[in-house]
Amino acid sequence: MTADKIKELVAQMTLEEKAAMCSGADFWHTEAVERLGIPASMVSDGPHGLRKQDQEGDHLGVNDSIKAVCFPAGCGTAASFNRDLLREMGETLGNECQAEGVSVILGPAVNIKRSPLCGRNFEYYSEDPLVASEMAGALIQGVQSKNVGTSIKHFLANNQETRRLSSDSRIDERTLHEIYLAAFEGAVKKAKPWTVMCSYNRINGIYAAQNHQYLTETLRNQWGFDGYVMSDWGAVNNRVEDLKAGLDLEMPSSLGANDKLIVGAVLSGELDESVVDTAVERILNIVFRYEEKRDKNAVFDKDKDHETARKVAEETIVLLKNEGVLPLSDKRKIAFIGKYAKTPRYQGGGSSHINSHKITSALDAVQGMDNIIYAQGFDDAEDKTDERLLAEAVEAARGAEVAVIFAGLPEKYESEGFDRKHMAMPNCQNELIEKVAAVQPNTVVVLHNGSPIEMPWVDKVKGVVEAYLGGQAVGGAICDILFGKVNPSAKLPETFPLKLEDNPSYLSYIGEGDMVEYREGIFVGYRYYDKKKMDVLFPFGYGLSYTTFEYSNLTVDKDRMKDTDTMRVSVDVTNTGAVAGKEIIQLYVADKESTVIRPVKELRDFVKVDLKPGETKTVTFTLDKRAFAYYSVNIHDWHVETGEFDILIGKSSRDIVLTKTVNVESTVKLPFVYTTDTTMGDVMKDPRAWKIVKESMPQAFPEAQNDSKSEAENEAFTEEMANAGLMYSPLRGPVSFGGHVSMADIQAIVDKLNALDE
Ligand code: BGC
Repeated sequence: MTADKIKELVAQMTLEEKAAMCSGADFWHTEAVERLGIPASMVSDGPHGLRKQDQEGDHLGVNDSIKAVCFPAGCGTAASFNRDLLREMGETLGNECQAEGVSVILGPAVNIKRSPLCGRNFEYYSEDPLVASEMAGALIQGVQSKNVGTSIKHFLANNQETRRLSSDSRIDERTLHEIYLAAFEGAVKKAKPWTVMCSYNRINGIYAAQNHQYLTETLRNQWGFDGYVMSDWGAVNNRVEDLKAGLDLEMPSSLGANDKLIVGAVLSGELDESVVDTAVERILNIVFRYEEKRDKNAVFDKDKDHETARKVAEETIVLLKNEGVLPLSDKRKIAFIGKYAKTPRYQGGGSSHINSHKITSALDAVQGMDNIIYAQGFDDAEDKTDERLLAEAVEAARGAEVAVIFAGLPEKYESEGFDRKHMAMPNCQNELIEKVAAVQPNTVVVLHNGSPIEMPWVDKVKGVVEAYLGGQAVGGAICDILFGKVNPSAKLPETFPLKLEDNPSYLSYIGEGDMVEYREGIFVGYRYYDKKKMDVLFPFGYGLSYTTFEYSNLTVDKDRMKDTDTMRVSVDVTNTGAVAGKEIIQLYVADKESTVIRPVKELRDFVKVDLKPGETKTVTFTLDKRAFAYYSVNIHDWHVETGEFDILIGKSSRDIVLTKTVNVESTVKLPFVYTTDTTMGDVMKDPRAWKIVKESMPQAFPEAQNDSKSEAENEAFTEEMANAGLMYSPLRGPVSFGGHVSMADIQAIVDKLNALDE
């Protein structure tokens, strides 16, 4: 329907109908207006499968939903670093929505993994905003190609579950832009989600739902978002103010209470009716966008989609350690140990919980292979060692040639609604791994978890496979990796620190009461570990393969550019091993010298290529200003400081294999306002300004500054110190020393300096 037609429709609605349209009719539907032919429109969770509730609705995953297909959760899909795969997963989800009459799927969820403790990390993508927004963008494109909307969430700075409905994320402007907004920005600009879901929390004192700055100025005015913003379920706290801020649709439903407030506010003149009209237009635009292109022939083929889920899972499994033990030969006697071999932990708890139509465990996947025995090893209902299960497992391991332990975090450890307390696995599982490894030198640990864990046993086992929460087909995918049918190709989208205390947010995570200060600033994840030169368990971007890759021939199409230009970077990658494999090539940029505090390097692009043995491919990246920029709070915009930058090509953030230095020139001069407090050093940066200052107060700069000092003092009083003394002296400094100039004289000089560029 055209914008004009929608406006006409809105013009025919009564104020009451329009107010009602601004909140849900029930848990999952928008309002219908039958007399005008406006249908109700259904939305459903998301993000990694369809949680469509036909009966009683809830937002905690408590009541039943239809049988559906559970894909790997965001923690895993991000590890694929594969945009095409995410697009395909999105297309599959979009088709499922069409078949089920769902207009918008509630996802992707892109909140930054500030701490390994966030209970919802399993749903989120990364500690790095580029990875989060690129993965989200691809999923959005896939879903929306089926004419179904997405709802990128939870906007903004919702990085913990503790007190999520009232917590106040206190974040400085630069950090917000470089880390937390950036996770949404690329996806919103490039993939144009139909809707955005605002979060529960406050950002610097203002509820996300009420935040005009982010909902309207940033999202719409700067990023060009043109869909509707809906609240997270129950995130509305002041309906009229929220509407003014840019929150169009309240979900689920206030059962008419807030409609009355809207009507009352319009009648009293507190709220301009045009604000209501705009919100309704935005909602209807999406309602009809979906309605008019309904695919009535779409079929939800669950078995087919299960296979897609398996294909996705195969690229989400990260091989973390392999000392010659993998891939396994299917001829060997193998012990599959651990409860998760039989009942895999493959998804997280809460609103994303899918009612899986079937589940393939690793044991299911090896059915018929009589060289594989199974021992449960532990019971995850309790954190206590079950001595009988442990003894059985040790026996099974002793009698086999290889032991594969399927371990991880029980569901009660990580879920929406609460945060983890620590980064450890249950003791009973750690003990099991130690005891099995003590009797079986060929021990491999397969991990099912949505967020980093500590691995006290890592040096005692030969293999570690991070399967994340791999969706309902995870067992088949794991076995394909274990037996080498599929070559692992995922890499970590987050750092695994050695211990929780190493994490940059450790000192302030979850905050004090509602106050959550993001004191680590921009130094999230590898940005921090790199800067501190810290050892980590496994670094960001790391993952092994069954083949080897060599990188060569890093070239740039120019080694000098203005910040208005772009630069093409290419590199050759060769599969030097014996089997086919996929490699994720990472491009980082490092500012070699900067007057602002910056990370050592930042990921600016990545690409995944598929290579046969011996094959070489050239991959190309295009870098623009943003790749070199930081967010300047001086101009409230991205800014590049003229100078040299290193372009780093890495296999991981800690394995940089090729480097090239380039020069980028800024076309923007940062405004500089002189005051009486401006230091001489800052004045010296502009020779014209320095000349004025020296000429205006010649007595202020005598040659011998150290006359009055003793001999010993004189020796220590180096030239450097003299310079520093001068450099850091404010313009008003000479007023206090010698009485040659007055504050009025200094102010006159300041005025002259500020007039220099007028
Ligand atoms: C969650 C959202 C979810 C919504 C609807 C909320 O509790 O935070 O992610 O989409 O419920 O279930």
